[in-house]
Amino acid sequence: MQTKEKIFKGKTLAILSGGGDTPAINSSIENVRRRALLLGFKVYGIRKGWKGLLGDGDVVDLTNVPYNGAYGGTALRSSRTNPFPTKKNPEDRVPQVMKNLERYKIDTLVTIGGDDTNGAAKRIYEREGIPVIGFPKTIDNDLRTHTMHSYNGEEIEAVLCPGFPSGALCISNMTRHLRSTNESHERIMVLEVMGRDAGWLTGSATFGGAEMALVPEFEMTAERKERFFEEVKKRYAEKKNLIIAVSEGVRWWNDETKELGMVYASSETDEYGHKRFGGVSGVVASEISKRLGVEARAQISGYYPRAGACSDYDRRFTSALADKAMDLILRGEYGKMPVLDHIVAQNGLEEYNMSSIDMGSIGNQPLQAAYYDEQTFTFTDAYVDFLSHVLGAPYWPDFGCTFAKVRP
Ligand code: F6P
Repeated sequence: MQTKEKIFKGKTLAILSGGGDTPAINSSIENVRRRALLLGFKVYGIRKGWKGLLGDGDVVDLTNVPYNGAYGGTALRSSRTNPFPTKKNPEDRVPQVMKNLERYKIDTLVTIGGDDTNGAAKRIYEREGIPVIGFPKTIDNDLRTHTMHSYNGEEIEAVLCPGFPSGALCISNMTRHLRSTNESHERIMVLEVMGRDAGWLTGSATFGGAEMALVPEFEMTAERKERFFEEVKKRYAEKKNLIIAVSEGVRWWNDETKELGMVYASSETDEYGHKRFGGVSGVVASEISKRLGVEARAQISGYYPRAGACSDYDRRFTSALADKAMDLILRGEYGKMPVLDHIVAQNGLEEYNMSSIDMGSIGNQPLQAAYYDEQTFTFTDAYVDFLSHVLGAPYWPDFGCTFAKVRP
């Protein structure tokens, strides 16, 4: 009798993904879909995030088709549609969402997203009581997950969201790749990294050998900029080449306007009010050249960490989170989001290491102070320990030889 009640025969679970894509979204969809099918659900995909629940709706049937979770991105497509009234669109479109959930007879909704998509899901849950489960995703890793990291007897509140492990692997590899050309020319390379207002992803460049980093959590005021140039000068004199990772959202002091500002690629805003960043690496590189007389180059990593296949860590992570999501559904605990309880290596990614948080507590989590040393502009050993659970040991290759100078 009890077993029968737990089979969701005749019920429909729908999945949507919103916001910037990551290499781990298809993997999340595949894992949720597969488990929902085992529980007896019919599984729908809602296309383009919240947009697929507006108007007549844009819904596809995932029940009887194969789904490839290893390929990155999201086959359901994504958008930054916000159903709540915004400056850009003052109409409250939540009634359209509600109408479509009813029309398509959707009994359970799984929203794969960061704080924008899941923030909207939380608000609809609170207002309308829909049976929703949030599923984390972001390469920025700035969605609070209450994941603890044990380091040297200390408990640090970290974050780990699917998508970040794959993105961090890309940035780490890209930085390592840049080392040989940078060494050949004895340059300073300024590598710009996505992440919006958080420096989590920028730290992964440290794994590929970036010696220094600038993050949005610490504004580059006039005073801090002076210290930064001093530190760059000192390190360049010692090593004769440097990679400096710079978060796209760093606030940088403008010597002419005497103001702190961010560098945008466009003044347009999306429906959540975000402008598009881009170009701060060029500003930092040209000031380094001017101030220190050293050749500096800017390199924007752009969408590279968002692209390509899902990493092994993320494959296993999304699988364990999907197990937890199903556990929540079986218990009828809606309005929650499965999260990783403690930072663990890949082989520890099992359902018993997953927990859940109320969607009401969803919010942003900037980089912890324990992870970044603003005096030296470097990521700390605690950060390296955090990320080595995900990426393994850091590896910093170099030419590995010095030559004796020949005298005529
Ligand atoms: O939030 C993810 C993210 O990749 C940010 O790091 C970046 O600032 C933004 O999305 C870029 O957005 P879009 O895909 O709209 O250009």
